[in-house]
Amino acid sequence: MNIVLVGMQWGDEGKGKVIDILSKKVDYIVRYQGGNNAGHTVVVGKQEYIFHLIPSGILHPGKICCIGNGVVIDPQVLLQELDSLRKNGIDFSRRFKISSLAHVIMPYHKNLDQLREKKRKNKIGTTGRGIGPCYADKINRCGIRMIDLLNPGVFRDKLKDNLKEKNEIFKKVYQHPGFSFQKIYRQYLDYGRLFASYICNTSALLNKATENKADILLEGAQGTFLDIDFGTYPFVTSSSTTSGGSCIGTGISPVKINKVIGVCKAYTTRVGEGPFPTEFAKDFGNFMRDKGNEFGSTTGRPRRCGWFDAIIARESVMLNGIQELAIMKMDVLDGLDKLKICIAYKYRGKLIKEFPCDFEVLSKAVPVYKEMPGWPNQNSKPRSFKELHPNAKAYLLELQKLLKAKITMVSVGSSRKDTIFI
Ligand code: IMP
Repeated sequence: MNIVLVGMQWGDEGKGKVIDILSKKVDYIVRYQGGNNAGHTVVVGKQEYIFHLIPSGILHPGKICCIGNGVVIDPQVLLQELDSLRKNGIDFSRRFKISSLAHVIMPYHKNLDQLREKKRKNKIGTTGRGIGPCYADKINRCGIRMIDLLNPGVFRDKLKDNLKEKNEIFKKVYQHPGFSFQKIYRQYLDYGRLFASYICNTSALLNKATENKADILLEGAQGTFLDIDFGTYPFVTSSSTTSGGSCIGTGISPVKINKVIGVCKAYTTRVGEGPFPTEFAKDFGNFMRDKGNEFGSTTGRPRRCGWFDAIIARESVMLNGIQELAIMKMDVLDGLDKLKICIAYKYRGKLIKEFPCDFEVLSKAVPVYKEMPGWPNQNSKPRSFKELHPNAKAYLLELQKLLKAKITMVSVGSSRKDTIFI
């Protein structure tokens, strides 16, 4: 069975925890897009792990973890993650695979990302990790792929061509001295040598696994509204975060996808710039940010927080074909008097019940809320749906009704045991 797991909002929905739980039940876990702009936090006992590139399933002995062709890889970050696994005694040598077709983030991508962002009037608020420029090179057909790092001749020619053009841009547009060929060439060939035993044709591997009835989890990074096509463009990331991206980013055909699970928070958060209709007012926003510890695991940036937006979540159900929902951080809503769910937007006197493609409408939309009663702080963590406070149950049932998808998992805390399965 092949399962796709996607974020339904603007990322940081808590996918890491769901992936960790599902990883136990599958044989393969695959990242299909994004790069080290993502960050999954997994808590096992007292040990906290933060993964940016390697699927967190690597913590489960025996599971095969792949970085698919749709991912962009910063070799330095990958090396650090592998080192940290080694330090914690996790043996991954025969069960970690990197697609030979995955593109490589080069030093000039990172600088370009930061310099471009600095120069822009309308800032995107990127993570500055070189994600956009790396994907741009992929589409421009001048990108460098993992397999190129294994072939000194091919890599030399590609890098030379790239630096010729890029150094001119750096000097003329950004008054930056540019990059030396030798340093990058040597360093990246070294990376190639270090990763050689993991680099392979992951699409062939995964398709063979499917033929052999293995179970595969395809884990999305970021969220639906950061998708390059369907997100709140241009305030998006540069990859296809929606479930369709899982086919492109792994080489598994759409006819072989069996289930799509959507992950969303019981409220909404967003990092970086861009429209966010249900964003809280400043003081309450600060209060909820602290309550939910809403700080990025990748950049540490404070996340913007807001009420649950059923318009975007329902759009997400449609775009991804979501069959099951995992509602995360439900416990963060404990102790609030009342809760609000956005069920429509108002723009220039008109009621809008569907996600507006017009950026201007989304930026100026005034949310129309349905209010629900809150529930007090809980002395102990509920372990089943039955044990939830009646108002919490009513809130979840309302979400289920609005989104027309079944809630199968509710998270009420960061550790594995604080999870309700329905
Ligand atoms: P980039 O992916 O670094 O190009 O950043 C583009 C936008 O996506 C920015 O608003 C980032 O804050 C946002 N973004 C990228 N990755 C994540 C993530 O994993 N979680 C939340 N936001 C993200």
